[in-house]
Amino acid sequence: MSRSAHPAGPRHADVLTEGHYSAPPADLNALDPKVWAQTVERDADGVVTVGGMAVTRLAEEYGTPAYVLDEADFRARARAWRTAFGTDADVFYAGKAFLSRAVVRWLDEEGLNLDVCSGGELATALSAGMPADRVAFHGNNKSPEEIERAVRAGVGRIVLDSFQEIVRVAHIAQSLGVRQRVQIRITVGVEAHTHEFIATAHEDQKFGIPLAGGQAAEAVRRALQLDGLEVIGIHSHIGSQIFDMSGFEVAAHRVVGLLKDIRDEHGVELPEIDLGGGLGIAYTSDDDPREPHEIAKALTEIVTRECEGARLRTPRISVEPGRAIVGPTAFTLYEVGTVKPLDGLRTYVSVDGGMSDNIRTALYDAEYSVALVSRASDAESMLVRVVGKHCESGDIVVKDAFLPGDLAPGDLIAVPATGAYCRSMASNYNHVLRPPVVAVRDGEARVIVRRETEEDLLRLDVG
Ligand code: LLP
Repeated sequence: MSRSAHPAGPRHADVLTEGHYSAPPADLNALDPKVWAQTVERDADGVVTVGGMAVTRLAEEYGTPAYVLDEADFRARARAWRTAFGTDADVFYAGKAFLSRAVVRWLDEEGLNLDVCSGGELATALSAGMPADRVAFHGNNKSPEEIERAVRAGVGRIVLDSFQEIVRVAHIAQSLGVRQRVQIRITVGVEAHTHEFIATAHEDQKFGIPLAGGQAAEAVRRALQLDGLEVIGIHSHIGSQIFDMSGFEVAAHRVVGLLKDIRDEHGVELPEIDLGGGLGIAYTSDDDPREPHEIAKALTEIVTRECEGARLRTPRISVEPGRAIVGPTAFTLYEVGTVKPLDGLRTYVSVDGGMSDNIRTALYDAEYSVALVSRASDAESMLVRVVGKHCESGDIVVKDAFLPGDLAPGDLIAVPATGAYCRSMASNYNHVLRPPVVAVRDGEARVIVRRETEEDLLRLDVG
């Protein structure tokens, strides 16, 4: 049985063309800073450290699998977004990417606002002390109870997603004697270059009110007449994991076009526009994300130019990055359980987690990288597929990657860039327990979300 990365034969060639890599990286021990959290490095013994802590020690103390989050990196990225947009704009971290009370406090301290999209996210934000006026409440089907809670709490804005919701929020706000600040979410008809399930501005989908056919203008018309609402702006989110700014350009052009129509029809210049989130990160070395200052410059220039063209005052811009802040700051630490070479195909490496801690590969065909982190190795590389422990053949964590050929049970491997949409989309499939989130900073580790226990599972099962 061969464990080499380059076995000859047509079947292997087929596998390679299906996959993402055509050749193994030159040095399997190297850690590309593009995909790993900022403080990650390999020490003199070959062990990977993060925030000054060895992964071997983290595994001993907290077990595997575990999401390991670099707090300094999170804060640095949050700050970079904040600084890039300056005081004339607002950065709302999209809590759906990953939310915990520690994260809320970091955001508060770094001067970011928070976007929540459910009662649960709102409760987390408020319980960690985020001032309600810095919270935006999203969602295409907020319940009346959620709306009432948000209005009573005094959230800074509710983003309205349908004609029915315009009336619903107005009614609830009015009955509470509140004039609720709202934005209206529109779909501008942009096809973001991303997976269909995470593209959100084309018209045939559940979010927002289409600009097409005058529907968005009609929504604004109705909202402006309702006493319970203060319409502060228009919202557009075009999708996720986007690298190309041209989608934002078209979106800004169309949103500003609507602002102009509103001014012409109602004599009102809405003071804000929100361009959503969706900025891409590097999951593999092939991805080249932009820096926050480049994004801020590009978006500000686009909006300013469009507004000058339309003779409008430039509105206050807000953005809602989730993945771009938290995504690169964490990796998932797994222990290798079984190594199964399939002759002429590839080697299946089974880890102690899987699709319950990272559904993105199965759901979106997402690409990830992986590295051996508990030691360095000079062994020849082998083509691997990293799979989980679930009873499902689609339980794949990393579809195609190279790892050292001497990989063995008990080794620790880590999948970088799992900070966004992994813990937040984790499940209990097969009654596998959801991993903890361990935050590491300056040589100290702290559990910010603890590992689930069998007791947790049984507590919900009332017999
Ligand atoms: N704002 C709104 C209104 C959104 O719907 C989203 C994401 C964001 C901001 C943040 O987008 P980000 O900057 O994180 O890309 N589960 C998928 C992503 C779904 C995103 C949903 N909305 C994934 O794992 O890729």
